Amino acid sequence: MNQEYTVDPTRLVSPDVTPADAEEVSLRPKTLQDYIGQEKVKANLSVYLRAAQRRGEPMDHVLLYGPPGLGKTTLAGIVAQEMGVQIRITSGPAIEKPGDLAALLTNLQEGDVLFIDEIHRLSRQVEEVLYPALEDYALDIMIGKGPSAQSIRINLPRFTLIGATTRAGQLTGPLRDRFGILLKLEPYSPDELARIITRSAAILDVPVTPEGALELARCSRGTPRVANRLLKRARDFATVRGDGTIDAESAIDARKQMGIDALGLDELDRSVLRAIIEMYSGGPVGLDTLAAALGEESVTLEDVCEPYLMQMGFLTRTPRGRCVTRLAYEHLHMAVPKTLRDDADDGQQSLF
Ligand code: ADE
Repeated sequence: MNQEYTVDPTRLVSPDVTPADAEEVSLRPKTLQDYIGQEKVKANLSVYLRAAQRRGEPMDHVLLYGPPGLGKTTLAGIVAQEMGVQIRITSGPAIEKPGDLAALLTNLQEGDVLFIDEIHRLSRQVEEVLYPALEDYALDIMIGKGPSAQSIRINLPRFTLIGATTRAGQLTGPLRDRFGILLKLEPYSPDELARIITRSAAILDVPVTPEGALELARCSRGTPRVANRLLKRARDFATVRGDGTIDAESAIDARKQMGIDALGLDELDRSVLRAIIEMYSGGPVGLDTLAAALGEESVTLEDVCEPYLMQMGFLTRTPRGRCVTRLAYEHLHMAVPKTLRDDADDGQQSLF
């Protein structure tokens, strides 16, 4: 379960946090009002927040799930800010032993938010400690061993757990059931991303035109983290090669220089599609075989490339392996094979 994997930190379109994203914190909205997109999540969250405030109680425990880079940590920070409490941030893999969690919980103040990222990676022993903490705000500690062992209960301050996961399906049933509020984050539309880019550009004091923002938004893979990263790189290109303003022309220039195409695919994405086409006649090919052929880790392809390629309708997962679609051939300007012409296998056509 606790698999460790690495994602190329230099990959501009990676939705995962990289060391270069440190500045991201200053771009994060602090209030729900400043948070762009995720309208349904925001509307529900604002009701839950106001209800909890009116009752003078901490908010129910929240599970945020959805692809990486969509603002789960940001939303947790907003909840804490709106409730006027502190937030403690940690992650599933960082809590190695039950004692680590016990230390975190006993250090919370009344009403605090505890944010656990990648909560699906908690070990079973740690999860066991979490259950009474979530249900009864209590910690059960075993003292002694064997027949004389005794369990003592320590009361905890009331708190709100916000768990975040990219893989809701990997959460155990008992843990999932202990969240009163489940919120699913969806990829952002180009229009929302353009608004996020315009907001970030104002904070960073970078001149950007609406057309420039939209150009960057279109190749940001539905992800604010990618959008903010592209904005910073586009600022560099506009400073050195242009007059400092990011307009449509300089945005296109910047993404081309970075090897990113108009739909946000980078060299790795394209090499995945090309390998399936050129080495495996369009598929099906097994994930491990494909990863070996590309010299990449299977999990990198599965977690980083495939979600977006499938979302764009370029790739399908079948029981026999991965296949590319007609749209992928067309996007790469490659001849569409006869078997894919005029069929409805591209994931974007109607079912009929
Ligand atoms: N920066 C990152 N995500 C954001 C969002 N959803 N709204 C505004 N700014 C953001």
